[in-house]
Amino acid sequence: MSNTLTIALSKGRIFKETLPLLAHADIHPVDDPDKSRKLILDTNHDDIKLVIIRATDVPTYVQYGAADVGVAGKDVLMEHGGEGLYEPLDLKIARCRLMTAGPVDDQPVNGRLRVATKFVNTTRRYYAEQGVQVEVIKLYGSMELAPLVGLADRIVDVVDTGNTLKANGLIPMEHIADISSRLVVNKAAMKMKHQRIKSLIDRFAEAVKNG
Ligand code: ATP
Ligand code: PRP
Repeated sequence: MSNTLTIALSKGRIFKETLPLLAHADIHPVDDPDKSRKLILDTNHDDIKLVIIRATDVPTYVQYGAADVGVAGKDVLMEHGGEGLYEPLDLKIARCRLMTAGPVDDQPVNGRLRVATKFVNTTRRYYAEQGVQVEVIKLYGSMELAPLVGLADRIVDVVDTGNTLKANGLIPMEHIADISSRLVVNKAAMKMKHQRIKSLIDRFAEAVKNG
C-alpha cells in the first residue's frame, strides 16, 4: 500500500459540494475537474491525490483499494451493497429522495408492473418487501422517458425539486429512502492509514457540524 492518500470523487455536484469539506481539512485541488481532462488531480499535499470517476464507480474503486476513501450517494451505496467499505460519516450533501414515480394519468396495469431504473438491486428489494411482483428494466439514464414511450409503468429514481418528473408528466409515488452523500473508506486502508483517515473523518465531521 503506497503512502499516498487517494480520495475518489465524481465530477459535478459531489465534487462541488465536497470542496468546502476538503478545504476545512486543508486539502485544495490544483485543477478543476470541470476544466481539466485529468483523471488524477494533485492537491496542495504531495501525498494526497483525488481521482475523478463516475458517481456509480466510487464504491468499486474504494472497495478494491484503488482509492482509500471516497464520497458516494446513499442511492449508489444501496445499489452497490457496501461490501469492503466502511461508511463512517453522513456528509449531508447532495440530498434528495429515492422514489417510485409514474404518469399523472396512471392507468391500471394488466399483469406485472414494469419498472425502469438504474437502481435494479434496490428496486427488486423494495418491491419484494412490498410483496409486489415486478419486471425490472435496467437503464443508464433519462429514466423519466420510459413511461412516456411505453417502456415501463413506473420508474425508480432520485427526486429533489420534482421538476424533472413534472416536466415529463410524472408524479412521485412511493418514498423508498432519504438520500445524502456518505464518506466511504476502504477497510484495509482504515487499518493501514488509520491516523490520516481518522483525522480526515474528524475534519469532515467538524465541517458538516458547522454546516
Ligand atoms: P453517473 O455519472 O455514475 O451516472 P450521476 O449522473 O447520477 O452518476 P450525479 O448527477 O453527479 O451523478 O449525482 C451524484 C449523486 O448526487 C447521486 O448519486 C445522488 O446521491 C445525488 N443526486 C443526484 N441527483 C440529485 C439532485 N437532483 N439533487 C440532489 N442530489 C442529487
Ligand atoms: C437527477 C435525477 C433526476 C433529477 C431530479 O438527474 O436523475 O433526473 O436529478 O432532480 P429534480 O427533482 O430536482 O428535478 P441529474 O443528475 O441529471 O440532475 P441535474 O439536472 O440536477 O444534474
